[in-house]
Amino acid sequence: MGRYDLALIGFGGVNRALAELISQRGDSLAEELGFALRVVAITDLRAGSLVDSDGIDLAPLLAAEPGELKFAGLPGGSADPRNEWVIREVPADIVAEATFTNPTDGEPALSHVRWALKAGKHVCTTNKGPVALAANELKLLAADHGVGFEFEGSVLSGTPILRTAQRMFGGLEITGVQGIMNGTSNYILGRLEEGIDLSAAIVEAQKLGYAEADPTADIEGHDVQLKVMILANEILGADLCREDVFCEGISKITPEDARDAVSKGLRWKLVGSATRRADGTVDARVAPLALPGDHPLAGISGPVNAVAFHTDLLGTVTVSGPGAGRIETAYALLSDIIAIHQHHHADDDTAPLPRVLQETHRG
Ligand code: HSE
Repeated sequence: MGRYDLALIGFGGVNRALAELISQRGDSLAEELGFALRVVAITDLRAGSLVDSDGIDLAPLLAAEPGELKFAGLPGGSADPRNEWVIREVPADIVAEATFTNPTDGEPALSHVRWALKAGKHVCTTNKGPVALAANELKLLAADHGVGFEFEGSVLSGTPILRTAQRMFGGLEITGVQGIMNGTSNYILGRLEEGIDLSAAIVEAQKLGYAEADPTADIEGHDVQLKVMILANEILGADLCREDVFCEGISKITPEDARDAVSKGLRWKLVGSATRRADGTVDARVAPLALPGDHPLAGISGPVNAVAFHTDLLGTVTVSGPGAGRIETAYALLSDIIAIHQHHHADDDTAPLPRVLQETHRG
């Protein structure tokens, strides 16, 4: 059986949850998927870095409180994250990038992805920044180096929006997408309908773990703006930058507006959309809309997300599921690893082999 050696860049909620999946169900996953997963390097801004080419023992790391974890003093450990060295130099098959998103320049994640691809390593990432701002460059880099670049988790965590569009809709035309892609704002709009005011609803969303510590990107639509860029570019073949996507959030909607809409059979939703115009260009925007009750997104409530694909042959197809959460987003990375395996290694005697098999063959 083949095995993929992983370098985890960022050890916050998402990569930690991926490590939990590998630690707790690695054997059953290997049996189902036909390959094993082993972590050989971890880097983290706060914990430092840890490298063990024989495979890191994950259980003691996962037993420690996240805030308490320090790699300095462990064999192969350092207080320094050593990101560039780990990504470029430590032998690994796949780099799982899950650091924070910087919506302005995509850094430092963009450099992490570039270093990995240039080093001939597959990359999976949940990070919106590099995907929204530089996907074309990174896909070319991956192709040049014969490796995969997968990013399902950049939109709606593990809910398979990008892969549904890319793999399941062959032979039909997608004319546009519309989505509820921020759980915080959707939860808050529901609470406004119940008469709770915006600031109290934001506090609730933070307590429930939906909102970012600084909820501005959730409330003002900037989080959805990046996701719309990704959908427009990946699904409709556009090449949009942030300035191309009109963005208005939900901060001007009052509990009175929300209740008034409900009394008329409408529901306010923060909708991100990308629509192909008659001239072939793409109109992309984020704005609150009062949707009629029979709209496919009107019934999406609380922190749940959904994307409606408008197609020529099927009409509207809506995919709904979680848009955030550490396990849900870690699943996106696992689904990316499966895609890398299928594209690059499965059932192909000429494809490059996972590292363990290369070593065996060089033997
Ligand atoms: N804060 C975001 C949300 C997380 O509420 O959906 C995912 O980007």
